[in-house]
Amino acid sequence: MKPLQQNDSKDKKNLVIIGCGSQGRMLKNMIEQYDLGYRFLGFLDDQIEFPSKKGETFEAPLEYSEFLLQEEIYFVLAIGKVEDRFQIVRRLPAIPLERYATIIHPHAYVDQTAEIGAGTYISANAAIMHGVKVGHHTSVLTGSIIEYESQIGSFVNISPNATLCGNVNVNDVSFIGAGSSIIQGLTVGKRSLVGAGATVIHDIAPDSLAIGTPAVAKSRKKRTRFIQCL
Ligand SMILES: CC(C)(COP(=O)(O)OP(=O)(O)OC[C@H]1O[C@@H](n2cnc3c(N)ncnc32)[C@H](O)[C@@H]1OP(=O)(O)O)[C@@H](O)C(=O)NCCC(=O)NCCS
Repeated sequence: MKPLQQNDSKDKKNLVIIGCGSQGRMLKNMIEQYDLGYRFLGFLDDQIEFPSKKGETFEAPLEYSEFLLQEEIYFVLAIGKVEDRFQIVRRLPAIPLERYATIIHPHAYVDQTAEIGAGTYISANAAIMHGVKVGHHTSVLTGSIIEYESQIGSFVNISPNATLCGNVNVNDVSFIGAGSSIIQGLTVGKRSLVGAGATVIHDIAPDSLAIGTPAVAKSRKKRTRFIQCL
């Protein structure tokens, strides 16, 4: 796919990004810079008190999504904190899954046998190899590698340059830190956090924080109690 020359074909779908922090702004630039089939309309975020116009686009509080649903508008969450992603999707039950966009950077490699969920986006230079399944509302960030047959859940963040060797299983609402490596065949339990640069050589239990090389895991149950309903 080529970078956009002079905007803007009429058959693009309208896109609203939920989250106007650094991931949201990164995604906005990606949408505006490349022809990915979407036109950026605006941001929704809890940090914004009142709806306002910003040139051609807008910013509004999350609840504004109710009005937007009446139009043919698509949504995507771009929020680093995976627990917040999970909570926000639960707060917005009126948005059906098919109204969440799947966005893939043109400089990412996604094998034709891979399956990518709704509301998930894949950044530049990420590589997703054969038989990989990625759930909904997950982000696979710059330069990360997800090798063969791995299964990534929903509300997961795969940070830049993380490497998941083949057949790795990352469960829902987990955060895999920048530059970490997880060797083949391992499972990361739900709501776990793998620290930046960690080398994971054993399965990680749910609700764990795993750091270091080799990674040592400890419980983070207190921090994740509010999403125990998963
Ligand atoms: C693991 C992590 C969440 C810990 O954050 P934190 O709770 O604020 O931890 P602190 O910075 O208070 O450090 C606590 C201890 O853990 C150590 N530590 C923190 N992160 C570490 C890491 N990634 N690897 C090894 N040790 C780490 C600190 O040195 C400190 O050790 P000490 O108690 O002996 O001094 C964080 O450091 C991290 O790795 N985050 C991921 C960042 C990332 O990948 N971002 C990508 C964004 S897209």
